[in-house]
Amino acid sequence: MRKKIVAGNWKMNLDYEEGLSLFSEVVNIVNDEITGQQLVIVCSPFIHLYSLARLAKSSTKVSIGAQNAHQAESGAYTGEISAKMIKSTGAEYVILGHSERRQYFSETNELLAKKVDTVLKHALKPIFCIGETLEEREGGIHFDVIKKQITEGVFHLDAEHFAQLVIAYEPVWAIGTGVTASSAQAQEIHLFIRSEIAAKYGKDVADSTTILYGGSCNPKNARELFGQPDIDGGLIGGASLKSRDFVDIAKEFN
Ligand code: PGA
Repeated sequence: MRKKIVAGNWKMNLDYEEGLSLFSEVVNIVNDEITGQQLVIVCSPFIHLYSLARLAKSSTKVSIGAQNAHQAESGAYTGEISAKMIKSTGAEYVILGHSERRQYFSETNELLAKKVDTVLKHALKPIFCIGETLEEREGGIHFDVIKKQITEGVFHLDAEHFAQLVIAYEPVWAIGTGVTASSAQAQEIHLFIRSEIAAKYGKDVADSTTILYGGSCNPKNARELFGQPDIDGGLIGGASLKSRDFVDIAKEFN
């Protein structure tokens, strides 16, 4: 059975104290209310990671992740953060390839492939994001775009390393817009992604890969999305900034 995951992406929100206080609430509610096997991940800005990883020790159901990592090991890259630094905070996951990084920081599939390698080398698990823009969907090329992102971004890995990944399908037109993909639209793409993984790595690897949906996921639409056979949870932006909403989404597996 593959892991069910709800991951929060705080993006560039919350100062240090605000982050600690939100996270403490999340851990408390998760410990009190989540009875299933699902994992809750919080991907915070770098400044919170070390403290959150310590607080997360009080829960077996909560893990911590970063939102980016540099591709190089170390060196003269002023302002950047390495995978080794992230690992040293106690974080376990790193979001890579988020559409905001692709769009605003010109991250290409080729660059992301290097980031994936560096992150895996430091025993961190990438949450690798893919997804088409509205223009690409309307142009009917969304399957091609997703296939290219996954092929160029992660299909260079051997099966053992690929098994460390979580994949997140996030249609760009659904991120932060309040427009969610319908459960049928999301399932169609998730099934496509899983079949591409099966073609490359075989059915067993495909069946054990967690594929998350992201884009305006909220406590009202999560149950229907998570009820689809190939949707294994969510990557949550806006709603992860409210402890109640975030944990309510994570409970929609119960
Ligand atoms: P959203 O963001 O839930 O606010 O749409 C999702 C994401 O960008 O990961």
